[in-house]
Amino acid sequence: MKRLQGKTALITGAARGIGLAFAEAYIREGAQVVLADIDIERARAEAARMGETAFAVDLDVKRQDSIDAAVTTSLEQFGQIDILINNAAVFSAAPIVEITRADYARCFDINVAGALFTLQAVAKHMIARGGGGKIINMASQAGRRGEALVAVYCASKAAIISLTQSAGLDLIRYGINVNAIAPGVVDGEHWDGVDAFFAKYEGKAPGQKKHEVGAAVPFGRMGVAEDLTGMAVFLASADADYIVAQTYNVDGGQWMS
Ligand SMILES: NC(=O)c1ccc[n+]([C@@H]2O[C@H](COP(=O)([O-])OP(=O)(O)OC[C@H]3O[C@@H](n4cnc5c(N)ncnc54)[C@H](O)[C@@H]3O)[C@@H](O)[C@H]2O)c1
Repeated sequence: MKRLQGKTALITGAARGIGLAFAEAYIREGAQVVLADIDIERARAEAARMGETAFAVDLDVKRQDSIDAAVTTSLEQFGQIDILINNAAVFSAAPIVEITRADYARCFDINVAGALFTLQAVAKHMIARGGGGKIINMASQAGRRGEALVAVYCASKAAIISLTQSAGLDLIRYGINVNAIAPGVVDGEHWDGVDAFFAKYEGKAPGQKKHEVGAAVPFGRMGVAEDLTGMAVFLASADADYIVAQTYNVDGGQWMS
């Protein structure tokens, strides 16, 4: 029995990385998936590869008109949205004395306001439809503690954990479960950028930071996107109906160590 049969999911930032792995896993579980991304060319190519149960929409979560249009287009395509994954985000890193207002605004606009107002737009649809739904926000172990050179990104992910709590408590009255996943370190293009940052600021060789963080994970390696798909399917399924406002670590034991 496929666990998401007949469901439609909107996944932001699904053109690559973790969001793309979520899209593939949801399709394997019987769902129809909208891949929403600012990189529309790549989202379109991935959706075409996946077949008729996948559809790409242009989305810039910084813009309310873009969020509203993406929700409308998704509904025109598939008629309903049962699941939202708020996955789109950007990394930001700098020593405290070098943080700029522009980068703070960019990071919070995408990671926090983008997630909140996408959640709001989809929740309005779910409430009007009356059938409940599942909303999953992508937090991070970075939201559970500060990091010397990563203040703004960490704060944005702490905000996601908090918004998950408040939205979870508010929306469960409509049968909408809001929960979050906090990955540890997941290899991919996102971490290529993180590695390049630390190469610059800590004088490391390319790939060295990745090697160090992977070796420090109790499981014994960095995560890969597929390590997260089990939790994403579970939280979107009926098995998670009684789970409200939680953030789950899926991190190979990193947070515990
Ligand atoms: N990779 C990790 O180690 C890690 C760890 C913890 C949490 N996370 C979180 O998991 C999620 C996915 O991470 P990833 O590694 O796949 O990242 P990624 O950078 O590989 O992918 C992010 C996607 O979001 C899209 N995007 C960026 N700005 C956008 C915007 N304004 N509107 C719409 N789409 C936009 C990008 O085009 C890209 O496709 C993020 O929320 C990230 O913070 C990642």
